[in-house]
Amino acid sequence: WKRFLQITGSVTLFTVASGVTFYYLARKDRTPGIQLPHDPTKKTLVILGSGWGATSLLNSLDTADYNVIVISPKNYFLFTPLLPSVAVGTLNPRSIIQPTRYVTRHKSRQVAVIEASATEVDPERKTVTFADTSEIQGLVSTTTVPYDYLVFAVGAEVQTFNIPGVRENACFMKELEDAEKMQRRFLDCLESAAFPGQSQAEINRLLHMVVVGGGPTGIELSGELHDFLEEDLKSWFPELANSVHITLVEALPSVLPSFSKQLIDYTESTFKAAKIDILTKTMVKEVREKSVILQKPDKSIVEVPCGLVVWAAGNKLRQVTRDLMDKLPEHQTNKRGITVDDCLRMVGTNGSIFAIGDCSATSYAPTAQVASQEGSYLARILGQIAKKDELELRLQTLQNQPETEESKTEIDSVAKRLVKLEKLRPFRYSHQGSLAYIGSDRAIADLPFFNGNLATGGVATYLFWRSAYISTLFSLRNRTLVATDWLKVKLFGRDVSRE
Ligand code: FAD
Ligand code: NAI
Repeated sequence: WKRFLQITGSVTLFTVASGVTFYYLARKDRTPGIQLPHDPTKKTLVILGSGWGATSLLNSLDTADYNVIVISPKNYFLFTPLLPSVAVGTLNPRSIIQPTRYVTRHKSRQVAVIEASATEVDPERKTVTFADTSEIQGLVSTTTVPYDYLVFAVGAEVQTFNIPGVRENACFMKELEDAEKMQRRFLDCLESAAFPGQSQAEINRLLHMVVVGGGPTGIELSGELHDFLEEDLKSWFPELANSVHITLVEALPSVLPSFSKQLIDYTESTFKAAKIDILTKTMVKEVREKSVILQKPDKSIVEVPCGLVVWAAGNKLRQVTRDLMDKLPEHQTNKRGITVDDCLRMVGTNGSIFAIGDCSATSYAPTAQVASQEGSYLARILGQIAKKDELELRLQTLQNQPETEESKTEIDSVAKRLVKLEKLRPFRYSHQGSLAYIGSDRAIADLPFFNGNLATGGVATYLFWRSAYISTLFSLRNRTLVATDWLKVKLFGRDVSRE
């Protein structure tokens, strides 16, 4: 009895302590405090975007140093690694987004959040023009603001290579609405296949899902589609489940070129067991309403009937990025993106524009990991720059005053401190490894390990994948929502109702 009471007491104490801590943290998140107002003596920092780079910067930035303006067509941050889970209904769309105001309202100084798309940056006059591109607009829907420093973090957009029919007939997997659209279309295909009197050939067509692109996005999405089929469709559409067929098309000789050979083989064998067809060395040449046109390795062209095509064939620069680069033709010639120096300053802009994430061309892969490390690095650099700017102003004031012994000593001291602040530490990326979910409760991971690499795949890696992503989510709110969604799906399965 004594032992039993001891254990029960400890469990109760632990539960109450966790509950109180959770309540305290949630309450803190929910009730932002009073913020410093706009300060006309501070410099203006404009941040374009609310994705990985911009949000990581905002999280770490001391906004007391600047008057900060965030401009983005999305007033939220999207946790892209879990987007494929939204597409099959494992996660609720709202669980993986974080309103940008939830971040900015907790900062020391007020931050202006503007839902708009930047349409033009003028590096000469140091201005940004932006427009409200949403459905509803007020009397003013486009304007221009000046900046002292600009952080360009607008990411990239889907690359279609101008292949006919892609935009019209395929779904993308880049934004939240893409995942929602894919889910709707997928369920529509199922319901249409279940329509009475449908021929077997038409059922097969409607239930043939083609994923284009064997990069991590295409692989994760195929894995999620397979899970949906195995875990839910077999229960709710038993008569159709055997007709569902997933094909992954990749132009290169293998999928996941950025992962090690061992993990590529593991993924291919997992897909084979899951009956997901991988067609490598095969190019999609056209996407039609009811089929895809493929160029096979022997260069022959075939038309393959299908119900749904998901286009995950990579990204390209946004128009606003290309326009900005075109304004600095001598310095910005890299087709992959904005050329930056070691401190992420856009070359040719005298340190007034920084570029981070997928819109910049660095030696690192365009990933969330890189963008978020660049964001937090930039927060430190901008803190240092703010101190330097303040000291420079102080030095100017002192130099304009009549010289005294006291002012001479202060000038010396300020000048010394300025020299220290002049040198910015360059950005260094620290690779934490690559992770990808491949379906069937399995994940793969390429992890840096004792100066080497650890390539691992399987169920344990899958649990690691889940815990890594839960801990990477930016807020307690998102962590709770995602964990609850996972539990809900385990208990009740995915929702197959079509909105
Ligand atoms: P984004 O996060 O795309 O943010 C760009 C921001 O700019 C957005 O808020 C956008 O609304 C805004 N914007 C767009 N146009 C304008 C404009 N004209 N003016 C102002 N703002 C604008 N990477 C990993 O490391 N691990 C993963 O597991 C992983 N999984 C992924 C899964 C999917 C499905 C996808 C699509 C990507 C995944 N990535 C992953 C890649 C990762 O999402 C990107 O590398 C990362 O989002 C880049 O961050 P960013 O800040 O440059 O751009
Ligand atoms: P990607 O560029 O990595 O892969 C796209 C693939 O599509 C390429 O392999 C390309 O050969 C293929 N392709 C292009 N055109 C084609 C065509 N016409 N027919 C057939 N195949 C075609 O794009 P993805 O997967 O969207 O990834 C983008 C970035 O995001 C990458 O840097 C990636 O590392 C990162 N990412 C990382 C994830 C992770 O670490 N778990 C998950 C998702 C994305």
